[in-house]
Amino acid sequence: MPKTKKSRKSRRSREKIKPKKVNLSAPKEEVKRELKISAIEEGTVIDHIPTDATFKVAEILDLENHQGVVSIATNLTSKSMGKKGIIKVGGKSLTQSEVNKIAIVAPDATVNIIKNYDVKDKIKGITPEVIDNVVKCSNPVCITNNEQVITKFYVMKKDPLKIKCHYCERSMGKEDIEII
Ligand code: CTP
Ligand code: ZN
Repeated sequence: MPKTKKSRKSRRSREKIKPKKVNLSAPKEEVKRELKISAIEEGTVIDHIPTDATFKVAEILDLENHQGVVSIATNLTSKSMGKKGIIKVGGKSLTQSEVNKIAIVAPDATVNIIKNYDVKDKIKGITPEVIDNVVKCSNPVCITNNEQVITKFYVMKKDPLKIKCHYCERSMGKEDIEII
């Protein structure tokens, strides 16, 4: 008698497992997306980057010369943004100045600090009122392009970005931004 009971129990528990198996064979959209870029153990994930700013963010962080793992993805589908870019940098934490520079080209980006595979913190950059020594002036005759003068721009509008050169008063939009 006890034997029969046992076998009945185990059959029941096997039945309970079945729905889980179904879920695994049909992962959620979210999970599928995660599979495209692997999670990182330590470092920084910059998420919600407008697609056209993804490579500018990579340039700001000088990722070309980073020795750790760098994953850059762009044109990913995002519910809130339509399309977005994401950058994962292993073994790097950002300075506040780097986070603020990112905010110049990606005001809504989220900077996630990853420790031991967990998101430890989320930082939003603050677009500065004045941008010193980050952006190149698009005016070829501007003094900053001809002499040893550090560039300086005033932020007229944050989103979409509009800045004005302190020296030649050239107005520039986000499409004109070239990082020094
Ligand atoms: N991430 C990662 N490696 C980890 C943990 C998280 O690459 N070890 C990435 C996730 O893929 C995601 C970002 O870091 O792109 C933020 O993670 P999380 O806060 O878990 O995601 P969401 O809740 O979607 O973030 P948000 O609310 O900011 O959209
Ligand atoms: Zn200028």
